[in-house]
Amino acid sequence: MKVVLGVSGGIAAYKACELLRLFTESGHEVRVVPTRDALRFVGEPTWAALSGNPVTTDVWESVHEVPHVRIGQAADLVVVAPATADVLAKAAHGLAGDLLTNTLLTARCPVVFAPAMHTEMWQHPATRANVATLRERGSVVIDPAVGRLTGADTGPGRLPDPAEIFQVCLRVLRGRPRDLAGRRVVVSAGGTREAIDPVRYIGNRSSGLQGYALARTAAARGAEVTLVAANVALPDPAGAALVRVESAAELREAMFAAEGGADAVVMAAAVADFRPAERHEAKIKKTDGEPAAIHLAKNPDILAELGVRRKERGDGTPGMLVGFAAETHDVLANGQAKLARKGCDLLVVNQVGENLAFGTADNAATILVAGGDPIEVPRGPKDDVADAVWDAVAPRLL
Ligand code: CTP
Repeated sequence: MKVVLGVSGGIAAYKACELLRLFTESGHEVRVVPTRDALRFVGEPTWAALSGNPVTTDVWESVHEVPHVRIGQAADLVVVAPATADVLAKAAHGLAGDLLTNTLLTARCPVVFAPAMHTEMWQHPATRANVATLRERGSVVIDPAVGRLTGADTGPGRLPDPAEIFQVCLRVLRGRPRDLAGRRVVVSAGGTREAIDPVRYIGNRSSGLQGYALARTAAARGAEVTLVAANVALPDPAGAALVRVESAAELREAMFAAEGGADAVVMAAAVADFRPAERHEAKIKKTDGEPAAIHLAKNPDILAELGVRRKERGDGTPGMLVGFAAETHDVLANGQAKLARKGCDLLVVNQVGENLAFGTADNAATILVAGGDPIEVPRGPKDDVADAVWDAVAPRLL
């Protein structure tokens, strides 16, 4: 595929080098179109060497090839990363003062913007309006990540991880639907840790991969996503607002804070069923005698509570409640019982055990539907399983 990588003048321009490599290494033909200011951060030779293509910034070079029209016309995808407030404004208003903005005007292929700027600029009404305009016209504008910005400040404005931007671009290239646009979803991911003392905990082997795939794919399908992550060591999914938690109690609080008004809530996290009844304030020391027993207390079932809250509130939100079930045996029978017991609309059942589901890139599942036929999801990447879940959710949303 022919990809145009537009790079505008922000400090995150260096991260676009990695995005460029991801495209070229997967066989895409990339033409880099930096703005003049982008070249103050990363020079022309870097883009030329990494892309294997000539690099120009203005419309007055190689004029006989009419680059200001040809590059955009020939592209299968234009991705602008980083996209500054300035380039978003120019694109929204149809200005065409350089090669990148000309390319954006002549491109008839999908366009993805990955903004990066200071929080104040991202939140300014002018930028908000420009982003809304671009989205209305069908461009994909990825919400920036939250975190450390240039200097000491933190907030929304970071360029998402290049691998995450790449995944969004691949989905756009494959023409995946954006059927969750205007929807708000909440996803939990990872595995909770229940403290025994300040240094030890009871935990589980959930990597968070499936939950992160659900958040990533929902954002790519246009949803506003809150991701509640328990102890996950993965890059932040592009476009999701991340809330980090550790214990089941914290996860419960974060889910309750986010679920009101949501169109769908997906509990993909592996929540500890039990916690140590007592949390020792000081580290437990090794003693000569028998080790002390750890007594356990039951954790609340957050998914079941979410079902009860929905019923009690009576406002129909969350619209869909989706649970996960990890089973080692009698997978379907246990799943059906769990679906009924937890009061959810869908239950994604996977078989777990050694090398199954936990920490692996692939997954297979059966989606049980309350009052409907089960949906078999063949073994495949966790993003595909996530898409199958949203395929089941999207048409059932009111
Ligand atoms: N879950 C939850 N709160 C808990 C335990 C589980 O919200 N305290 C949610 C999980 O996020 C998942 C679903 O319930 O969506 C099923 O989790 P699972 O561990 O398979 O079920 P359990 O309720 O623990 O049932 P069992 O121990 O009988 O397998």
